[in-house]
Amino acid sequence: MPRSVNLTVHPNVKQHQVSRYIYSQFAEHLGRCIYGGVWVGPDSTIENVDGIRVDTTAALKKIQLPAVRWPGGCFADNYHWWDGIGPRKERPRRYNLWWRQAETNQFGTHEFMQFCDMIDTDPYICLNVGSGTVEEARSWVEYCNASQDTSWVQRRRENGRKDPFGVKFWGIGNESWGCGGGMRAGYYADLYRQYATYIKPTAGDGAKLIACGSHDNLPDWDAAFLDAMKGKLDLVDGLALHIYTGWGMPNIDFTDADYYKLISLVDNVDRNLARACGLVQAYSTREHKIHVMMDEWGTWFREAVTENGLYQQSTMQDALFAAASFHMFHRHGADLMMTNMAQTINVLQALILTEGPKMLVTPTYHIFDMFMPHRDGYLLPVDLNSPELKLTDKFSREAVSVSATQAEDGSVFVSLINLSLDEEFEIDVNFALNEAMAVQKIRLLTSPDIRNHNTFDAPETVKPVELPVATITDGKVNLPAKSVMCVSFA
Ligand code: AHR
Repeated sequence: MPRSVNLTVHPNVKQHQVSRYIYSQFAEHLGRCIYGGVWVGPDSTIENVDGIRVDTTAALKKIQLPAVRWPGGCFADNYHWWDGIGPRKERPRRYNLWWRQAETNQFGTHEFMQFCDMIDTDPYICLNVGSGTVEEARSWVEYCNASQDTSWVQRRRENGRKDPFGVKFWGIGNESWGCGGGMRAGYYADLYRQYATYIKPTAGDGAKLIACGSHDNLPDWDAAFLDAMKGKLDLVDGLALHIYTGWGMPNIDFTDADYYKLISLVDNVDRNLARACGLVQAYSTREHKIHVMMDEWGTWFREAVTENGLYQQSTMQDALFAAASFHMFHRHGADLMMTNMAQTINVLQALILTEGPKMLVTPTYHIFDMFMPHRDGYLLPVDLNSPELKLTDKFSREAVSVSATQAEDGSVFVSLINLSLDEEFEIDVNFALNEAMAVQKIRLLTSPDIRNHNTFDAPETVKPVELPVATITDGKVNLPAKSVMCVSFA
């Protein structure tokens, strides 16, 4: 008999709303993310619409990504946007400094916007601060968002787009403490003030300006930046952290101990987010709320190096890591506006892998798919008496993780994760005050081996299954080891 875990969900006790933007993505001109994954060119034998792949965009459209950040990453501060507009055959070839590739500029602003239209997502553009100028950045914003009859707007129209693109999210530099210029926080804050002063009125009402935040070994950056922004904090809508997990670990041939260590590191991201959330609360006012973002995160294993364009496999382990991270993000939802997993296709913790004309979706993709009903839901309190799971000599955490959200229509969506590699649990699901809620749908993602992953020969090795609603009888359901289960109630 599996050990029993009691779960009580409190419907109608709505906490904060979980922004759908927490389920956003990041796509950079790096390796085969854009070139190969998104863009194949109109002459390709791979099915495309105006050069953009049909198969990968169809898979992305299905999971309705709320936003995609582009063009980098480190590439952003090495990118000059006007290289990527106008007739494609006349566009210059440049050196992609950080990823040591030739940049053909065949994929530029209009191609990115078409990609966003095809997958029905909001564009999030990161501007060049490290090697650009204020006017270069401001004119890109004008090119995208203005409707006045200016020369840049005329150029946009000549290039095929009459109406403004209406880009809402603008990042001012990327990793300005590193590849984005090697700056100190005070200097970056001065530049931020200058850039934002010109960009905000150009971007238009409702636009969000996003500042470069810390990474987990540079925690002092955030406080120093916000402090130096005093008097101009209304120019900061988001403070974006970058935290990668898994350095030095193998992507497939990891040990059980490696897996438990990776899961223990969700706590590292949690602590950094908690610190940043506390800070933005302190620097926000009633009139202007600053949000935390994490516009780069995910696993980064030792196989992903510059030479292979940061390519790595994504296993069932990545799916559990993503799911556990999303539960933690939900808890920070009062301050967390957006997260962007790195990166959409063929790079790091990718949703999709391609090889020439072939493509597959990874176990991580399935988590984005399964968790869709959480988006914009209200977090509900849960009582859970999960057993402890020892992760490392120093760290343990609950073996079972649960997140419950309630949609505007009153339906409740519960995701359950069993992080144990070998123990199944019986979950006894109850609703507080005996609220009557009927099971509508159950989906389960698991695999016999945590190292299992999808290959081009066996692309459906790891995929979710739908279980009959009667799988939950008398409120009880078995949650297999290393699994994620999603249950919809109404
Ligand atoms: O996602 C890969 C790289 O990681 C990005 O270009 C950079 O911002 C980060 O260091």
